[in-house]
Amino acid sequence: MRTTVGIIGAGPAGLLLARLLHNAGIDSVVLESRDRAYVEQRQRAGILEQGTVDVLRAAGAGGRMDREGLRHDGIELRFARERHRVDFPALTGGSSVMVYAQTEVCKDLVALQIEEGGPLLFQAEALAVEGAESERPRVRFRYEGREDVLECDYVVGCDGFWGVARRAIPAEHSHVFERTYPFGWLGIFADVPPSHDELVYARHDRGFALLSMRSPTVSRLYLQVPEGTDAASWADEEIWDELERRFETADGWSLERGAITSKSVTPMRSHVHEPMRHGRLFLAGDAAHIVPPTGAKGLNLAVGDVVTFARALAHLEETGSAERLDAYSETCLRRVWQAERFSYDMTTLLHRAPDATPFEDRVQLARLRRIVTSRAAGTDLAEGYTGFPLD
Ligand code: APR
Ligand code: PHB
Repeated sequence: MRTTVGIIGAGPAGLLLARLLHNAGIDSVVLESRDRAYVEQRQRAGILEQGTVDVLRAAGAGGRMDREGLRHDGIELRFARERHRVDFPALTGGSSVMVYAQTEVCKDLVALQIEEGGPLLFQAEALAVEGAESERPRVRFRYEGREDVLECDYVVGCDGFWGVARRAIPAEHSHVFERTYPFGWLGIFADVPPSHDELVYARHDRGFALLSMRSPTVSRLYLQVPEGTDAASWADEEIWDELERRFETADGWSLERGAITSKSVTPMRSHVHEPMRHGRLFLAGDAAHIVPPTGAKGLNLAVGDVVTFARALAHLEETGSAERLDAYSETCLRRVWQAERFSYDMTTLLHRAPDATPFEDRVQLARLRRIVTSRAAGTDLAEGYTGFPLD
């Protein structure tokens, strides 16, 4: 097989990249190791930044998002039994976010790729990227029981944190920056209307809690739990009781309960691989970086990477200049590190580490007080949450 851009992975990064290249008249092939059902049902994030919403619309992939997504103009910060709303448009000059699940974004992009795009091979496992430093990089892959090779001009590893693309970069060229956290998130889906019309981020002495949603009838909630927690060790009523404690307020707000339809634990990690390019191999999305989910940045960072690559390659095809392609890693990492900083700040602002001291508790509350009383501090949070402009 031969193509201009070999894409490994059909998560949001790989699927959106294929769409952007198609719209630019550049051919690609997507290799995805799992089946379509897995790709479309894997539960992940649910918040789209303004920039992501604009990109999906411009790519012709925003129709159902505009019909079914929920535009949110703020979030609530909750601490010391107080409630404080962060007003995004007022603090950012008009930006907001869209609540629209990553599963739905992937379904929309898969449908478009099958309908209009180039080959999207499911259950096609990339085994290795070869010749990244040559003019003709190759992806060796297994599909329908036999090994094959995809000859490319460029390879983009959109294969997530556990993928193979990153391994093709020689160790002497790889620099990893990482931090793990001594806690994770126990997440549930529940068939009950959300108890608030916007997301609620709660800092509590017992630990962090988040109220989110997927629709007017489906709630998505998270509890900070010690790292290594087994979701099965939490009974449904225990989960509701703990959420209720952590969302407590002085004004008697109450949390509606309902049937929990799924529960799982997500570990917390910050991770960046530099550079995001080696020869004609490029990394995008989780293949290059991971953020703790607190700031809802993962999907949106993946979008920023693939928009940068698609624009740079289109620029090369149109002008013959590789300057933007050569600046890919530097351009993406500027955004990546801002998102890493924001996600780290949100995580340390709202979670209580097992070894937190009374001093650290007070500093956390002072940081929160500053955000809800200072326009400058509130603007920093609002700008980080609604997203930094795409270069
Ligand atoms: N060959 C082919 N496909 C692979 C291989 C491989 N060797 N290894 C992994 N994949 C596929 C996975 O099955 C997955 O579908 O690559 C895809 C990677 O998708 P994601 O992990 O979703 O990564 P990305 O597209 O960068 O999106 C980042 O997804 O994981 C969330 O929180 C993350 O919201 C963020 C977003
Ligand atoms: C979600 O709805 O899954 C979600 C929302 C906000 C976050 C993280 C996850 O910060």
